[in-house]
Amino acid sequence: SDRVMLGPLVGAIDQGTSSTRFLVFNAKTAELLSHHQVEIKQKFPKEGWVEQDPKEILQSVYECMEKTCEKLSQLGIDIANIKAVGVSNQRETTVVWDKMTGDPLYNAIVWLDLRTQSTVERLINRTPGKNKNHLKHRTGLPISTYFSAVKLRWLMDNVEEVRRAISSGRAMFGTIDSWLIWSLTGGKNGGVHCTDVTNASRTMLFNINTLDWDPELCQFFDIPMKILPKVRSSSEIYGLMKSGSLTGVPISGCLGDQSAALVGQMCFQDGLAKNTYGTGCFLLYNTGQKPVMSEHGLLTTVAYKLGRDKPAFYALEGSVAIAGAVVCWLKDNLGIIQSAGDVEKLAALVGTSYGCYFVPAFSGLYAPYWEPSARGIICGLTQFTNRSHLAFAALEAVCFQTREILDAMNRDSGIPLAQLQVDGGMTSNKLLMQLQADILCIPVVKPSMPETTALGAAMAAGAAEGVRVWSLDPKDLTAVTCERFEPQINPEGMSLLNCYLVFKKKK
Ligand code: G3P
Repeated sequence: SDRVMLGPLVGAIDQGTSSTRFLVFNAKTAELLSHHQVEIKQKFPKEGWVEQDPKEILQSVYECMEKTCEKLSQLGIDIANIKAVGVSNQRETTVVWDKMTGDPLYNAIVWLDLRTQSTVERLINRTPGKNKNHLKHRTGLPISTYFSAVKLRWLMDNVEEVRRAISSGRAMFGTIDSWLIWSLTGGKNGGVHCTDVTNASRTMLFNINTLDWDPELCQFFDIPMKILPKVRSSSEIYGLMKSGSLTGVPISGCLGDQSAALVGQMCFQDGLAKNTYGTGCFLLYNTGQKPVMSEHGLLTTVAYKLGRDKPAFYALEGSVAIAGAVVCWLKDNLGIIQSAGDVEKLAALVGTSYGCYFVPAFSGLYAPYWEPSARGIICGLTQFTNRSHLAFAALEAVCFQTREILDAMNRDSGIPLAQLQVDGGMTSNKLLMQLQADILCIPVVKPSMPETTALGAAMAAGAAEGVRVWSLDPKDLTAVTCERFEPQINPEGMSLLNCYLVFKKKK
């Protein structure tokens, strides 16, 4: 026959804020064989609100799986070789559904959503000394609109169906990983209600020291523990696919997308870090088996736990809410580019922002400020400023925000990072990558296979007990080829950077 012999394969669902993907890798070589991507709608029903339809998200996962399987068959690859599926997902985004009907009780409230600003203020006011870091020693997180607990609180306070389902014992809460795994493993007909430690650590209900739901945190937010999923490791068999072309295949990996990228970048030792440029931008720094509390506005989060009996690793995280989203804004709200990819050409026409600065604080400011009331500004405009300068300033904004969290990271760790490993959609923008190296003054290193998030989820799934088709032994890990961007700042860029540094000093 014309079947291609490849050995075991592993699939990965990558459910991000802007799109869903399904990708299939060769478990022996880590080669990406095929994939399919579907865009996800974001709804902005009110100023500051961001929602998605959980059903659309689930549908997009099935569509990506089926299309990828078709593409593999066309390549002569037998989909029976797919031995496991891993899940990586946008984190924090909150869903409550009815376990009897399988239907969501409200749209998913997306991590970027700001509707909980007053809830957050109320909660902070209740803490001794009105301290947003009151729960940090248990959760690693400041009380903020970003995390799931306040979104769930809002749903309980404002949606009658949610309240009723909770009191009648029909409600299930979950982040996107839980919603997908429950649905894919059978949904109302016996679906598995679980999450992994990395996703759980973004809810604010999870104690990152004990690695379990924390009754006192649940009490603080007044959330009933019976609606929470069971917390599992990031690499074990959770259940089997119950429908579609991959029926019977175990789902055996689960990681929040930023953790998945850390694994996919092979940052398995303390001191290794990666920055992913997606909708937002997230720098994670592996601190080993101990949680390290930041003194400079970073989060402490569970990085991964690759097996039931394996230790948990932790990370310091610098989260930037708006990165790729600023490019979408130039496209959708200003209409100055037709597609996101056009931003590079437009910015390259001028190669400078000409003194224009763009702070895209659309969803408040995340690390290191945690200021939900901040809003975006564009300043330094003159008669001369045109759309190219705006595009350039938008790209610079992504780089400056990264510089800021890298500075915080270096101060927390005491050991300045010598280079930055990067990935994510925006890293195909070479202008951005060079600008980033210039603004950080260290080399930026990008793997030639950019789908590191999916790769991390596939590795976790393939290495799980009971699957074991992927080796995580460092000596077996396939060497990755990389592209490097060396800092080579020009005088114009230098003056920009000086502006930034002077500004930082003044503060
Ligand atoms: O915390 C939010 C993060 O997980 C979203 O990732 O890739 O959709 O920007 P992304």
